[in-house]
Amino acid sequence: MSLQLDVFTLVPHAFGWLTERRPLAAVLGTELDLRLFSYRDTTPLRAGQVDDEPYGGGAGMVLRVDVVAAALESVYGGRPTHRVVALTPQGRQLDQPLVEELAREERLTLLSARFEGFDERIVSNLATDAVSIGPYVLSGGELPAMVLVDAIARRLPGALSAGSGEHESFSESLEGGLEYPHYTRPAEFSGWQVPDVLLSGDHGRIEQWRREQSRLRSVP
Ligand code: ADE
Repeated sequence: MSLQLDVFTLVPHAFGWLTERRPLAAVLGTELDLRLFSYRDTTPLRAGQVDDEPYGGGAGMVLRVDVVAAALESVYGGRPTHRVVALTPQGRQLDQPLVEELAREERLTLLSARFEGFDERIVSNLATDAVSIGPYVLSGGELPAMVLVDAIARRLPGALSAGSGEHESFSESLEGGLEYPHYTRPAEFSGWQVPDVLLSGDHGRIEQWRREQSRLRSVP
């Protein structure tokens, strides 16, 4: 089962570098079908207009509901039947369990907006979910959409590099908990030692130590 992930944005080209690298590059065309759509390509308004001044006044521009509805209509021929996630600072805060949940979908749509954000009717009527990547406000939903795409892509089968199967099943067993600390050569630098257990060659003890470390890091 693969995931069709559609992202609606005003800056589709911003996603370029993300698609060229792992984990995206490893799963594109197999586990992941990523499609990028610009609201400007399907806007019913003249001259590529997509946003407007807020009713009641105030600074900034707001993404129009008719523009987003037209974009969804052109791609899905109507309102999609799958989950549509609006990226907004007012949404449910993203965490690993939500990433796992979204990574299990077969089809998923992400809506991003710039500046002041969405006309509220987009969030309440066109989207099924509102997701925030953290309690701070960015100037648009593109970085949040990229964060979500990356977090989902690395949970798809085959996303992690060859030879990491052990690690993959391990991190699954943690149910999304944070990882244990990693070390590489040199074994000692400036008097800073790599934990002895990792140099012991005793895989049972190493696994036990890693589990314990992950557990310690995962406790809120
Ligand atoms: N748009 C602006 N800030 C955001 C945030 N923190 N999460 C999701 N979308 C956003």
